[in-house]
Amino acid sequence: MKLPLLPPSKSLKGKKIFLRVDWNVPLKGAFAADESLKILRSAQTIKDLSSRGAIVLVATHLGRPKKREAEYSTENLLKRLPAEIGLKPVFLGDALDEKTGLENAAKKIVKATPGDVFLLENVRFYTGEEKNDLKLAKAYVALSDFYMNDAFASSHRAHASIVAVAKLLPSYAGPTLVQEVSAMEKLLGKPKRPYVALIGGAKLTTKLPVIDALLKVADKVMIGGAMAHPFFAVKKIEIGKSYTEKEGLAAARKMIKNPKIILPLDVVVARKVAPGAKASACLVGKVNKTEAIGDIGPQTMQAWSAEIKKAKTIVWNGPLGVADIPAFSHGSLVIARAMAIRSKGEAYGVVGGGDTLPVVMESGMDEWFDHISTGGGAMLEFIAKKGKLPGLAVLNKK
Ligand code: 3PG
Repeated sequence: MKLPLLPPSKSLKGKKIFLRVDWNVPLKGAFAADESLKILRSAQTIKDLSSRGAIVLVATHLGRPKKREAEYSTENLLKRLPAEIGLKPVFLGDALDEKTGLENAAKKIVKATPGDVFLLENVRFYTGEEKNDLKLAKAYVALSDFYMNDAFASSHRAHASIVAVAKLLPSYAGPTLVQEVSAMEKLLGKPKRPYVALIGGAKLTTKLPVIDALLKVADKVMIGGAMAHPFFAVKKIEIGKSYTEKEGLAAARKMIKNPKIILPLDVVVARKVAPGAKASACLVGKVNKTEAIGDIGPQTMQAWSAEIKKAKTIVWNGPLGVADIPAFSHGSLVIARAMAIRSKGEAYGVVGGGDTLPVVMESGMDEWFDHISTGGGAMLEFIAKKGKLPGLAVLNKK
């Protein structure tokens, strides 16, 4: 895909750049803002633009606010920016006011000097954002000279700060967007074989399009996490009290005969999948009615690691168990390590997804992967739609 790049020779001195990043990160918990790859990567883009004399207007969404809720204000992000990244954007807090907000913002920006960095309020606080509204895009345009998309993780959304504004301004793809797109393209073009895909998570229906796409391009698709349960249910295999997405049954029925689909051989079970639970392993088919499945079992870990060891292309999205509870995190950790060992050399290894990244970081081997995608839905849609994301299409046409 040919994306428009900002020429290194272009003078940016005093030019205002509307930079869409994806700083949609958890503010609490295991993968909070201060250790987020999303922030660390695009912080570099901001610093580069600022050092070239640009006035950088950083815009992001945060969460899925229904209205203007203080907990979703991007000001919360400012407090959490790690000191070591050396970024102190000025918060355009008055942009909170829908009527006067952007005008007030403009007044502040007029006084800016080259290199200044501003953080706009959560773009989803503006009603036009999710409607890809032209009027809102024009308000953004009034603040800016150029547009740059450095938000791969949001590029599957046809929203005003991703699509409408990019149509109106000279627009460029940011470095982290380019990095993500080229990494993803390698999974689709002529991937080296064997090509192994691992897909986990709770709901099969949310990942059907990506599984369909992977079944066409990969040699084996391993299904882990609760997404495997509808397959077991269709095969009339006892899964006890395990969570099963009912809507997933029809899909599982359709796919079950595909020889590329590989299901777990054994599982880790407990009376309750909860912290402190007493967990044990058993073969699939031996799960007791009183038990629930929380992870793939040791035989599966071995078998899937052996496949990874032979693979030349590997992609993984979605935890293979309830990975935020230590007793049910082993499957995901073993696979993370097996994949890390094989990546950057023997195989091309790409991992992504909001729930998968904490496990990858926990493995301590994150540096070993060829690419860690910050995209959750965007990564899945990129694979499923062969790169045809609205945020990329609008740049591609430029
Ligand atoms: C993500 O975290 O996957 C992106 O930031 C997109 O968020 P959204 O699903 O709320 O659009």
